[in-house]
Amino acid sequence: MRVPFKKNITLLTLMICLHISLISGQDKLPQIQLEKNQVSTAYVETKIDSIIAVLTLEEKIGLTHAQSKFSTKGVSRLGIPEVWMSDGPHGVREEILWDDWGEADWTNDAITAFPALTCLAASFNPELSGEYGFSLGEEARYRKKDVLLGPGVNIYRTPFNGRNFEYLGEDPFLASTMVVPYVKGVQKNGVAACVKHYVLNNQEHLRDKINVEVSDRALYEIYLPAFKAAVQKGKVWSLMGAYNKFRGQYTTHHKVLNKILKKDWGFDGVVISDWGSAHNTKEAALYGLDMEMGTGTDGLGVSKKDNYNYYHLANPFLKAIKKGELSEDLLDDKVRRVLRLMYRTNLNPNRVLGKLNNKEHHKVARKVGTEGIVLLKNEDAFFPIKDKKGVTIAVIGENATRNMTRGGGSSQLKPKFEVSPLEGLKARYKNATIIHTMGFESGASAYNATLPPTLNQDSLFVKAIEVAKKADIVLFIGGLNKSYHQDTEGGDRKVFELPYGQEKLLNGIHDVNKEIGFLLVSGNAVEMPWTSKTKGILQTWYLGSMAGHSIADIVSGDVNPSGKLPFSFPKKLNDNAAHSFGEISYPGNGINQFYKEGILVGYRWFDTKKIEPQYAFGYGLSYSKFELNNIRINQKKYTTNDKIKLTLDVSNIGNSDGSEVVQVYIGKHKSKVKRALKELKGFKKINLIKGDKKTVTISIDTASLAYYNTDISNWSVEKGTYYLYVGNASNNITKKIKFNLF
Ligand code: BGC
Repeated sequence: MRVPFKKNITLLTLMICLHISLISGQDKLPQIQLEKNQVSTAYVETKIDSIIAVLTLEEKIGLTHAQSKFSTKGVSRLGIPEVWMSDGPHGVREEILWDDWGEADWTNDAITAFPALTCLAASFNPELSGEYGFSLGEEARYRKKDVLLGPGVNIYRTPFNGRNFEYLGEDPFLASTMVVPYVKGVQKNGVAACVKHYVLNNQEHLRDKINVEVSDRALYEIYLPAFKAAVQKGKVWSLMGAYNKFRGQYTTHHKVLNKILKKDWGFDGVVISDWGSAHNTKEAALYGLDMEMGTGTDGLGVSKKDNYNYYHLANPFLKAIKKGELSEDLLDDKVRRVLRLMYRTNLNPNRVLGKLNNKEHHKVARKVGTEGIVLLKNEDAFFPIKDKKGVTIAVIGENATRNMTRGGGSSQLKPKFEVSPLEGLKARYKNATIIHTMGFESGASAYNATLPPTLNQDSLFVKAIEVAKKADIVLFIGGLNKSYHQDTEGGDRKVFELPYGQEKLLNGIHDVNKEIGFLLVSGNAVEMPWTSKTKGILQTWYLGSMAGHSIADIVSGDVNPSGKLPFSFPKKLNDNAAHSFGEISYPGNGINQFYKEGILVGYRWFDTKKIEPQYAFGYGLSYSKFELNNIRINQKKYTTNDKIKLTLDVSNIGNSDGSEVVQVYIGKHKSKVKRALKELKGFKKINLIKGDKKTVTISIDTASLAYYNTDISNWSVEKGTYYLYVGNASNNITKKIKFNLF
């Protein structure tokens, strides 16, 4: 565009002022209130207007796509910075090469690995989620990241999804409640959280092309709420699109972005593509994508120098605007969002400096681990195990020593240290004798200790039986790992049972020693026909840097377990809703898949269809015992715009201090639409010293009982009779109370 001389002078002056103000901060940038600045101040918006006015078309285009694997270009002549991103969601990923997935081999990028998000969800502790987010945000800030690519809130639909460990479980209310403080915590550091993967990316198998067909009700009631909460309550500054299609169109440029996310929910942040999920310039420009990342290391598949110019939102977009095929306003809106992100992050002069690997972060990681571990079985009070002289504990299983922060795909981490379960137990048990043997091995893997050539699965088995014979107690540490087709990105699991011959090994050990505790290291449910061969079972997730210490805290009883399952464990694979409808429902026919279970995901399915799960959603034992008494609600009748006030007494009647999670589910009696028997609508984690009692109140908006009414494409609260269920697991209800909405 040619600019007249006079206008040129004005522009030049403006540009110089801008440059000075952006880099020196002399022009008093607005005091951004980091927690509240979802709606940017008028000042910032005016400032953004003035920047857009002086940016050339090419410079604007440069802000909307990658310049390297994890960064976008700034505009150096104006002091507009680059945007730097990193995975996410359990720690800040190591530096990788500019244009290659290879590791950069820096020596200063080792971080704290926090427990996987399934574990965080299992803590049922939103406050702790805030501490998690804040600590992680501090690390991201220290590592000079502007955007942290997490958290993930895709709903747990099938135990085969390789990436479930990165998400917050099967229930939209739980995921929504946990995601908000995480996002706020990260963003307090002036680092944007990036909630992902929007939307319906509920499996890894064929994720880059599978077309999901799902009802509007399931979309709105199950799959969208956690994203909505992140946007409206968490005020998240960025969001990542997904790889899959929905109703025939790629989700990264789709009307779920413009219509639902931006218009209905008022999202004013940046939509970032998943790496390589943008497919088309016109759709990317028109349907809500703001920043294109990872389209290919060589642009669009052609190996050219400066290949990022071949991205869909690069030269092709520029050309289309120049030709008048696409409006420049589309670009301006994207640029406005990117600049707004900058004012919230790298142009905010009040950003803290961040912290890395400090004691507080390790403490948070350990606490999330201990609060998330779930005690599934405890026959004859097998756990906790006392540290007594003369007692021999055999620790058996590859997962006792295997590194679990490596592998898994983009969430892989390079922690400064990772305390293995064996190390953690050895550090805690000073009187008892701990003996260890590998027991089974998972095959060649870069992340596995090298197996001496004389050892194989058979010799490991024989040795394990020998060791088990000599021990008083066996701790079997097994489960899944982060290898391909286990808990990892890019492919789903193939089998539901325990891999690598673990069941055979367990049976063998059981023949010689009955005192077995099983520690299940996984981010997914596994088939468990073997529970009777154990006395105790702990679900121990992937716990990051402090894994071994968190495990030892629970095994020893230093901390009383209080985690609850954030997803159901089916007895058989086909008991799971998605699987029960066959291949067309999961994994699809290679082109399409139909979410035939609709809204009946997870425990909604088990409850409604009266199928007994192996372990139910919300279930988890304690070393203590709790009672819920005096459970009442403040009225019998409510309007559709009211608050239900539930009050109850929670008592710790056992012998140790601990925490219980009170869970409130509500179901409609005789609904005119299909409904789950009950749905989680409230919960509270209560800490109680032994012998103590607390009166607890939980408030529930009657508006939250709405269903998505497809007749009016909006939410409706149905009048009539409802039941409120109070308990400490979805299948352990202490009291059912009837009430009416009128
Ligand atoms: C993943 C994202 C991740 C991105 C960058 C993609 O393959 O799906 O979750 O943030 O890579 O590593």
